Amino acid sequence: RMPHAPESDYMFKVLLIGDSGVGKSNLLLRYADDFYKPDFESTIGVDFKVCTRTIDGKVAKMYLWDTAGQERFRTITNSYYRGSHGIIVVYDVTDRESFSRVRMWMQEIAKYASPSTQKMLVGNKVDLVSKRVVATDEAQMMAEELQVHFLETSARNSHNVEGAFEVLLRDMV
Ligand code: GTP
Ligand code: MG
Repeated sequence: RMPHAPESDYMFKVLLIGDSGVGKSNLLLRYADDFYKPDFESTIGVDFKVCTRTIDGKVAKMYLWDTAGQERFRTITNSYYRGSHGIIVVYDVTDRESFSRVRMWMQEIAKYASPSTQKMLVGNKVDLVSKRVVATDEAQMMAEELQVHFLETSARNSHNVEGAFEVLLRDMV
């Protein structure tokens, strides 16, 4: 890079949404700090982290907004969709209800985000093999229907966490 080149080539606003307890905060914690919190500390309103990654020799700075899944924060979190470049909808592969509500989250995106926002579906907690209730194929089919990229992750053991954000980053650049 040139000595006086700008600090970053891209700046992206990214949102994590999905039901409470699916692991949004831990996905972000893993991605940003390579850390994991086993104890559930439900997010109040919104949290935020900045992450920088290099993609095809260009520097992308991402402002990552981690929203609360709890219904009572919905009016606050909805106001963050505007101007986002990418939105990750997270469900928990051990929680059928969180998967059923993916369509509702997609409707929220349609309502509050710009049509050009890149979307991605992520099924988290794949480390809990014996507790899984949502099959990969089933989610893959829904992702195809919704025309979004899809990956399964584990914030606990890091599986696909970097990969999921990279897929979204590729769509945004
Ligand atoms: P809200 O902030 O309420 O919307 O929830 P959240 O989606 O941010 O969930 P959070 O990251 O706080 O995780 C909820 C619980 O699930 C915590 O106890 C986490 O440790 C746990 N958890 C998160 N990711 C994983 C994972 O990949 N595997 C397993 N086994 N547990 C996870
Ligand atoms: Mg959270």
